[in-house]
Amino acid sequence: MSKTIDPDIRKAQALPSSYYTDPEKFSEIKHRFRKYWHFAAHKNQLVESSSIELKHLEKLIDEPIMMTADRKIRCISNVCTHRGMLVVDGHCSKTTLRCPYHGRTFGLDGSMRAMPEFEEVEDFPTNKDDLRNFPILDWKGLIFSGIEPSGFESSLEEMERRVGWMPIETFEYDNSRNRSYDINANWALYVDNYLEGFHIPFVHKDLNRALDYDNYQTELFDGGVLQIGIANEGESTFDIPEGSPDSGLDVAAYYYWLFPGLMLNFYPWGLSVNLVVPLSVDSTRIIYRGFVWDKKFLGKGAGGDLDKVEAEDQHIVEFTQRGVSSRSYERGRYSPTKETGVHHFHQILTS
Ligand code: FES
Ligand SMILES: [Fe+2]
Repeated sequence: MSKTIDPDIRKAQALPSSYYTDPEKFSEIKHRFRKYWHFAAHKNQLVESSSIELKHLEKLIDEPIMMTADRKIRCISNVCTHRGMLVVDGHCSKTTLRCPYHGRTFGLDGSMRAMPEFEEVEDFPTNKDDLRNFPILDWKGLIFSGIEPSGFESSLEEMERRVGWMPIETFEYDNSRNRSYDINANWALYVDNYLEGFHIPFVHKDLNRALDYDNYQTELFDGGVLQIGIANEGESTFDIPEGSPDSGLDVAAYYYWLFPGLMLNFYPWGLSVNLVVPLSVDSTRIIYRGFVWDKKFLGKGAGGDLDKVEAEDQHIVEFTQRGVSSRSYERGRYSPTKETGVHHFHQILTS
């Protein structure tokens, strides 16, 4: 059977429009999300002995999960083992978790501690009364979780090699940078748009002044894409240590995308995490989290005015959703010089 996306970009037809418009295809793809690692939170989002509900994760993998911290960080089920109420709503800074429905209490490790009016219950408690623990992966303070996640090694190796020198673990959580936008477009259109710098001169006039368009780089790796924005003269750049693959280059931004919808954008001021959360075939939530490394670079260069860039992108993506939904559009072609990232994403999506 021939592949939906030809591996030779020069011959390939782009993604069929049904991927952006067909609710059944949407559900099928969304179902696969449980096999991937997803960003939960930076550990600095939690203070000592506390827990947060991970609402975005629930939307991504259909599982209410919270993250807790005491001496250890954990991702555990947020579903009470009594009658299924959600235990934590938002954020909770206590050393025990108490279900608001009938008062069952749990430790931050998920173990059932106490339950009123259960003295006469036989064989109680057992480990079935504890909150389920989910797999967890900690890369430099970025915590990932999932239901049955696998295959993340090559992405982490790639990031380690390139940006592993940054003190990501110490980046400070800045909740004034939190954003959440619901847009009327399929999640994959938002990802397509992210994965090419081709549109920058047309759509982002200010960003285009900060970046050197001709030297914009796109690199593919297993499960993801890295785009490197090279700065125009006078714009803020990283001070890249010797021995790093990009030492000597004027890098303004590292844009990492990891399948399906995680974007880790490193700027001289720190890290902007964008989460692409599909809500339905034609609606998507975009969530921003910001972690500051060096305040003096805030508001400058390629990572300066993210709200403006975001608004420009959303406008394009919503209009494109209307376009791909029309009878006049089936599928397009790729630019071999500018759309290798989009082509790579579509191959993963259809494999
Ligand atoms: S549902 Fe949690 S105590 Fe009853
Ligand atoms: Fe853009």
